[in-house]
Formats: sequence, structure tokens, C-alpha cells
Amino acid sequence: MASSSTLLVAAVAILAVALLPLLRRLLSGHGHTRSGKGPLPPGSLGLPVIGHTLSFARALRSNTAEEWLRRRAAAHGPVSRPSLFLCPTAFLVGPSASKFLFSSAAVTPKNHPSFSQMVGRRSIREVVGDEHRRVRAMMVRFLRPDAVRSYVAGMDAEVRRHLDAEWRGRRTVAVMPSMKSLTFDAMCTVLFRLDREKDASVRRELSVEFQELIRGVWATPINLPFTTYGRCLAASRRGRRTVAGIIQRRRARLESSPGDDDLVSHMVAEGMGEEDIIDNVMFMMVAAHDTTAALLTFVILHLEANRDAYDKVVAEQAEIARRRKSKGDGDGGALSWEDLGRMRYTWAAALETLRLVPPIFSALRQTTEDVEYDGYVIPRGWQLLHATNMTHWDPAIFPDPGRYDPARFVAGSQPPPFSFIPFGGGARICPGNEFARVETLVALHYIVTGFSWKLAAGCDGTFSRNPLPYPSQGLLIDINELASST
Ligand code: HEM
Repeated sequence: MASSSTLLVAAVAILAVALLPLLRRLLSGHGHTRSGKGPLPPGSLGLPVIGHTLSFARALRSNTAEEWLRRRAAAHGPVSRPSLFLCPTAFLVGPSASKFLFSSAAVTPKNHPSFSQMVGRRSIREVVGDEHRRVRAMMVRFLRPDAVRSYVAGMDAEVRRHLDAEWRGRRTVAVMPSMKSLTFDAMCTVLFRLDREKDASVRRELSVEFQELIRGVWATPINLPFTTYGRCLAASRRGRRTVAGIIQRRRARLESSPGDDDLVSHMVAEGMGEEDIIDNVMFMMVAAHDTTAALLTFVILHLEANRDAYDKVVAEQAEIARRRKSKGDGDGGALSWEDLGRMRYTWAAALETLRLVPPIFSALRQTTEDVEYDGYVIPRGWQLLHATNMTHWDPAIFPDPGRYDPARFVAGSQPPPFSFIPFGGGARICPGNEFARVETLVALHYIVTGFSWKLAAGCDGTFSRNPLPYPSQGLLIDINELASST
């Protein structure tokens, strides 16, 4: 009896100590910072420990996260304090918030803890200052316009091969899985120089593991074999082993014949440590394919629903195809850089899609010191959440925001600064935006000139987020091959 009461006392004591930081946080959440510097953003930190995480996660899954956030903004104004992912959070709205997040010296990137666990803690997203600049410079070498220009032929071949294998002769296509596999292949070929034949098994392994791990980047971190998190973590471990094998082979090749024309060899040649290379390759593989796959998928959805925009894209692409045919390039030659430069309306259609459905829901940040914003003090260590869509759907910036209108992005009509942010901004702006532009345009050229499509029966075009947008049924479409397709 004595021993069980001792155990009970011990358990209560341990619980009290464990909950102490939380109690402190909650107490500091009643209006003012502990330092008394000024008021905290309005709102409440929600339920103990989980805060608002569950209701927000539910809203993301049912694609009502924007409404969830809009309700908060209506109740508390453009700055408020939910508690998400076990962390007190300041939720900020609008272009001035984007400017603050992208340019304040007191703010640093933050990842969902599950993302860090899957991808690693030494990736470009985790490192700061000189280290960030060094890693970014290594990546930018492969992503700046002159490098991307050299990838056009490789991307062109990947797109044609993919459409021949996965679209031709089919009546129905699930667009999102198809685009994920296309962008994954294009990335393996042009950035990592993984050969389609010699490296076939490596490519297959990576593809399988990345499809799995991507599902867990915002999963609740409960590591059991049957949880999403547990399964994705296992996929991440297997993916890391495969990447380690690539590094070994690149290291051996560099010793016999110098030449760093792929990202991994370049990182090895620059003296980066193995764990750092693995984390950065993991990050790059996630960053470089799912985002563009989502963009392509939702362009296809929006063009199907908007005949006027569709007709304009078709006319632009048909004109480019005609030009190429008349020059003798149409039957085998790759699209040229100049052809891509002529796809202005098509890129406007892609930008309008990024406005309506930004693949990255929010660029999370964290304060590195107490910082004042809009009359409130946001304490050090708080997470900063900013929903891209809240700005993209603001009728004061984009009138009639729910309407799909690529004309908003044709030459001469630029949105105001910090109001169109699908690629983020500031020192962390996506360095892959040119890569994404070229890949999107090449793929759309062959899709639009090769096929017509409509939503398959039963596919309603709705989508959920996890956190990337994913359409129901992967966006199932019925396709028709066009007679004039090249
Ligand atoms: C439509 C496609 C894409 C979208 C919408 C997109 C969006 C973004 C966003 C919002 C960020 C975070 C910015 C921030 O935290 O402020 C980011 C970062 C990043 N993206 Fe992309 N991205 C796309 C494609 C790509 C591609 C194709 C690549 C590489 C080939 C890439 C590589 C990266 C890298 C390396 C970072 C980290 C930058 C840093 O922390 O310095 N992205 N992207």
C-alpha cells in the first residue's frame, strides 16, 4: 500500500514537472508577455498541450483550412495567437505580414517537427546565416536560368516519354500520380543525372520511398509501426540509405574522373559532410517534384473548367507547334528556349493557378527574439504562421478572387509587392521557380497539343491538403488523343 501511494506521488510530481513549461506558456498567454513589454496577440492558446492542432489538421484535410483561418482573422483581427503543432503561434494575415516574415532579422524558418524528422536537420531549410548562404549557392548553381536552359532537352524527352507510356492509348488518367511520376523522373534525370537504364533500380527505390515519406511531413509524431508517422519514418530511413549509396558512387567517380555536373557530385566536391548531403538531397527531392506536380495538376483542372482560358492556351501552344513544324523541328526536335519565351499566356494560366491553389500552404517561421509587430509583442521562440491563400484570395488585391482569370498575370499587370507569394520571398525565396516554370511549360505544351480532356464521371475536382493539395481520386480525367499531336 505504502509503495503504491509513493508511486502515485511520484507520478503526480513527474506530471507536474512535465507540465510546468506548458502551464508557464498558458499563463503567459493571458494578454501580456512575461517581460511585460507589451500585449500578446489576441486569442487563446486553446486546449492544453494540443492547442488548436486537431481542429486545424481536420480543416486542412477537408480543405477548409482557409475558412478556419478566416474565422480566426474575423474574430481576432490580422494578428492572433492559436497554438498549433505543440507550439504557441502568431497567425499573421496580409501583404505586410508577408513582408515582415520574409525580411525581419528576428525571424528564422521553422519546419513542422515531422518534416525535420523525415528530411533531416541539416537541410537548407534548417541552416541559417553563412551556412544557409553556402548551401543555397551550391543549389542555385543548378537552378539559375543558364543551368535550367540546358535542361530543356532533357525535360522535353522525359515529358514525351511519360505521355507516350502513361497517356497514349488510355481512356482515363489519374493526373496527380501521373504528374508526380513525371516531375520525379525529370528531377532524377536533369538534377541528379541518374541514368534511366543504369540507375533504374535506384530511381525506382527513391520514387517508392518518397511517395511514402511525403505523406508524413505534417503527421502527428507518434512513432509506431502502424501510424502514418511510423511508416513514413521507415520510408525516410530507406530513402536515406539509397541516397548514401549514390553519394558513395559519386565519390568514387570523382576520384577517378573529376567533374561535378550533378548536384550530389558538386556537394561532395565542395567538401560537404555525408549527413549534410543526404539531408539536402532529401530536401531537394521533396521540394523539386511534388510542388510542380501539384501546379500541373491544378492547371489541368482549371483549364478544364474555364473554356475561355483553355482556348487561349490551346491557340498559343498550337501556334508554337505550327512554327516548329514549319522549321522542321516538330517531329523529334526538343522545344527551344525561344519557344518557351512565347508561352506567355500559358505561364499566366499557371500563375493564376498558383494564386488559387498555392502548393505550399504556409512558409512557417519562428521568432529568434521578442519582436514587435502591429502593436503586439510576439515572444521569442513563437511559431509564425502565414497562410498564402489569405493574401491570394483578398478581394482588395485580386477582385473577384474566386474567378480563374489568367489575364491578371499577363504583361503589364503585376500584383503589388508581397501580395502574390507562391514561391515565398526574401532570402529564402524558392530558388527552383525557373526550373518549375520551364518544366511546367514543357509539360503543358505536349499535354495541350496532344490531348483534350474532361473530368471523369464521379470526379468532382475537390481536393484536400496534407499539407500539399491533393485532388480527390488523384483528379481522374477522360482523355482523347488529338489527331495532330506531335
Ligand atoms: C510550383 C513549384 C514550386 C513552388 C510553388 C515552390 C514553393 C516554394 C516555397 C513557398 C518555398 C519556401 C520559401 C520560404 O520559406 O519562404 C520554397 C523553398 C525552396 N524550394 Fe521551391 N517551390 C517550387 C518548386 C521548386 C523546385 C522545382 C525546386 C528545385 C528544383 C525547388 C527548390 C526549393 C528550395 C531548395 C527551397 C529552399 C530555399 C531556402 O530555404 O533558401 N522548389 N519553394
